[in-house]
Amino acid sequence: MSVREIPNIAPPEGKLGVLLPGLGAVSTTFIAGVEAVKKGKAEPIGSLTQIGHVRLGKRTEDRNPLIKELVPLTDISNLVYGGWDIYEDNCYDAAINAGVLQRDLLDQVKTEMQAVTPMPAVFEHRFVTRIDGPNIKKGANKMELAEALIEDIRNFKQRTGAARAVMVWCGSTEIFQKPADVHQSPAAFERGLAENDPEIAPSQIYAYAALKSGVPFANGAPNLTVDTPALIALSKAEGVPIAGKDYKTGQTFIKTLLAPGLKSRLLGLDGWFSTNILGNRDGEVLDDPDSFKTKEESKLSALDVIFQPKLYPELYGDFDHKVRINYYPPRGDNKEGWDNIDIFGWLGYKMQIKVNFLCRDSILAAPIVLDLALFLDLAQRAGMSGILEWLSFYFKSPMAAQGLYPEHDIFIQLMKLKNTLRWMKGEDLITHLGLEYYD
Ligand SMILES: NC(=O)c1ccc[n+]([C@@H]2O[C@H](COP(=O)([O-])OP(=O)(O)OC[C@H]3O[C@@H](n4cnc5c(N)ncnc54)[C@H](O)[C@@H]3O)[C@@H](O)[C@H]2O)c1
Repeated sequence: MSVREIPNIAPPEGKLGVLLPGLGAVSTTFIAGVEAVKKGKAEPIGSLTQIGHVRLGKRTEDRNPLIKELVPLTDISNLVYGGWDIYEDNCYDAAINAGVLQRDLLDQVKTEMQAVTPMPAVFEHRFVTRIDGPNIKKGANKMELAEALIEDIRNFKQRTGAARAVMVWCGSTEIFQKPADVHQSPAAFERGLAENDPEIAPSQIYAYAALKSGVPFANGAPNLTVDTPALIALSKAEGVPIAGKDYKTGQTFIKTLLAPGLKSRLLGLDGWFSTNILGNRDGEVLDDPDSFKTKEESKLSALDVIFQPKLYPELYGDFDHKVRINYYPPRGDNKEGWDNIDIFGWLGYKMQIKVNFLCRDSILAAPIVLDLALFLDLAQRAGMSGILEWLSFYFKSPMAAQGLYPEHDIFIQLMKLKNTLRWMKGEDLITHLGLEYYD
């Protein structure tokens, strides 16, 4: 299909399986939330697919349907869940441990949460050093582990009656990795699986299993995972969409709101210092410097792209950008972030901005998991494959075509997402030119 051709979108018939490697704070907050919404006990706040509108046509036409009225999304009543974790807790117990949601809410969806039990994980301690658990697959090599995951996906679909499935990585952040030889082509990757290449991370084995099963894959963590030539080529070859990486929540979300605003008025930047305290299991994993490096690279990339220092060396050529995450158990999932931003204006006069965000990490991430699952499925039914750049709205470290810089500005990302939905339905794209109103 040419990218310009308006797609035929297959209807969302039957159940959609949401497969989650990692049943921790984010996954369980997502599942409990969707189940509570289904029962009318809560509202899906923060989810574009559930409550977002999109303008169509001219401003005078007053056409603003819900996104879910414009494009044929799977209804949340048709979602079923599966997942893998290194711990054996079912999702109800895992949610209690994560301590994000109150027990009285969890008790209202207890039966549904208890029914989601983790399949044994593909795990290698070297890639996530701070945790260990008993629920782990064994295999003679990484290809056998991939085949076991493919079997899990097949059994899951049979067991639940899911007509289709998507996979959203909600596992811990793996250590920092650069693409190696084994990541350069699908053939090299498959050879590496058979030969147990140490450069293949567990998250990449899940992604491979998903793609080989025709299951779209999104990466919510900053790990390299599908962001390699091998898995990007495989996603095209298998006709399966992929998206990533690292949910844009918390401090980086606020950063990508503020930075385009400062840049729009051409205010200069001397420095941006960001620090966080966080006490959940994610924080514990990130206490390992190698896992933190993966997160740090992801968090640092946004400002360079938004400020365009090469175009504006006098404003942005030499700013200091520091990001710190401190593991502080008493804070649990309720992260606190501080930003100190040193800016300068007219004639070089200096100013400061201080931001103190008391956020709830998983509360911000859960609607993103829902939207990604529904949009990945929509994209597949519309015949799209490879990187879905229009989902970069949801990511700190957006994947983009080779040689193309990623778009980090959240307002451009949102426009791209909405224009993609308009394009899918043959509606006019909105350019905001608007001269016709003044003729
Ligand atoms: N919450 C947010 O706002 C946010 C934002 C961006 C990215 N993330 C990323 O999302 C991921 C999940 O975050 P969380 O707060 O739920 O963390 P969490 O620690 O509560 O849950 C992660 C789960 O993954 C499991 N796991 C680790 N390796 C696995 C493997 N190979 N296979 C199966 N399970 C595995 C762990 O046992 C754990 O239960 C993390 O990588 C985090 O960095 C979260």
